[in-house]
Amino acid sequence: MQPDIPVDSFLVSEFGLGFDGIAGFYSRLSTEEELDFEKAFFSQGNWGVSTVKPYISAGNKELIDLLKIPSISADSAFAEATQQTAQVVANQLERAGCDSVEICETPGYPIVYAEKIIDKSLPTVLVYGHYDVQPPDPLDLWESGPFEPVIKKTDLHPEGAIFARGACDDKGQMYMHVKALEYMTHNDALPCNVKFMIEGEEEVGSDNLADFVKNNTTKLKNDVILISDTGMIAKDTPSITTGLRGLSYVEVEVTGPNRDLHSGIYGGAVANPINILAKMIASLHDENNHITIPGFYDKVENLSDEERAEMAKAPFSLEDYKDSLQINAVYGEKGYTTNERNSIRPTLDVNGIWGGYTGEGAKTVIASKAYAKISMRLVPNQDCDEITQLFKSHFERIAPESVNVKVTPHHGGQGYVTPIDTIGYKAAAMAYKDTFGTAPIPQRGGGSIPIVALFEKELKSKTILMGFGLDSDAIHSPNEHYGLFNYYKGIETIPLFYKYFTALQS
Ligand code: BES
Ligand code: MN
Ligand code: MN
Repeated sequence: MQPDIPVDSFLVSEFGLGFDGIAGFYSRLSTEEELDFEKAFFSQGNWGVSTVKPYISAGNKELIDLLKIPSISADSAFAEATQQTAQVVANQLERAGCDSVEICETPGYPIVYAEKIIDKSLPTVLVYGHYDVQPPDPLDLWESGPFEPVIKKTDLHPEGAIFARGACDDKGQMYMHVKALEYMTHNDALPCNVKFMIEGEEEVGSDNLADFVKNNTTKLKNDVILISDTGMIAKDTPSITTGLRGLSYVEVEVTGPNRDLHSGIYGGAVANPINILAKMIASLHDENNHITIPGFYDKVENLSDEERAEMAKAPFSLEDYKDSLQINAVYGEKGYTTNERNSIRPTLDVNGIWGGYTGEGAKTVIASKAYAKISMRLVPNQDCDEITQLFKSHFERIAPESVNVKVTPHHGGQGYVTPIDTIGYKAAAMAYKDTFGTAPIPQRGGGSIPIVALFEKELKSKTILMGFGLDSDAIHSPNEHYGLFNYYKGIETIPLFYKYFTALQS
């Protein structure tokens, strides 16, 4: 133990943090906690759960508190918890230095809006994030409770990672912005105005946020929107997400006979809805893994050979990719690379399928109904409502006469591409260059944040997707986690973005 070494010098030496102002911020721990923290980090080789924990859980326990609340927006059993989370976020924003904080009620979960306006003539950054999380199931695959955050070291994160649902998506990433603001306000280093809009319905389609944005364009006026809700290429390879895919999500129901039937008495003579559904789903891709829905690709934007060549320069190892997923081969649309398949190309995937008997043992039955949830990831220019309609007509058309099908649309959203010749992108690139020592690589992402396209339409401003997550963080999966390194890097990079953006804009 070396208790005389200040916390900040540890951060600088171990993580290569070059942002000298951050020191005072991290040392805001009681002496005892500080010693605990130092002990944890300086006694190399002893960075286990119990030793690293004091830093976040005692010294910096707000994020841990936030992660303990099961704000699962998709499940109404957690409505109270989700509602409460808005208040916790509001309190945290107030403590971080916002001048006005509001909890804006909606027909669904509230939107937390906060701002600190230091000078109306200066630029304004609007930060968006979400406090809701995906359902944690399957629970038995979690090594620790999804809402009992623990810090553990992993091969990739020897300095520790926070394990909890929402650790990365998006409470942890959103909280970096709160901490960055706290740092800036407490150190007189906020160079511009800031507005925060943190919602609780991102994981269920942001329907109420869309109305809120449309009705509050003046209040939300800004010069750039900043979001940390995506990932980067690797811990030592920063990247900025320059595109998001759109989404069309439908649920299908296939009905055969009016009741479940004995599969011996009726089997062979009556359509089995599960067999039929499987067949219909299989027909949605051809032998080249192209989607067969007529018109599906009509508006797909095809990248030029130059653009594809540029994309191919991003560091990527197919072997590591396969290893990390324990698969022998990748699979996808013919004629495209793995990175193209998961970002610039549209997809169709079954997310869940059910029907019939799935209990213990065997039951001989032909179920009356079969169901599936199907999502289509879309690329710029594909309109999500149009694609939903194309899917519906096609699915109804391919159904044999012996069954009835019902297609119910869920939420959707448009894709987004952001140019890299903007002040916002340049400021972000400069900030990453300072903290990582290397310029970020622009990269189109495969996920969706539907509200981003709406921001551009309604607020007329570009979004910078400064995500610090890693693909291995297991978002939406059991054992979701977020590396402390990534968390710190985010907190460190964000104030620099503000600094450069203000300088370039003025
Ligand atoms: N943060 C994710 C989106 C994301 C993750 C984009 C990683 C790029 C990289 C977001 O919370 C999310 O999960 N969005 C949903 C869509 C929503 C409508 C449910 C998604 O992409 O499935
Ligand atoms: Mn998210
Ligand atoms: Mn998500």
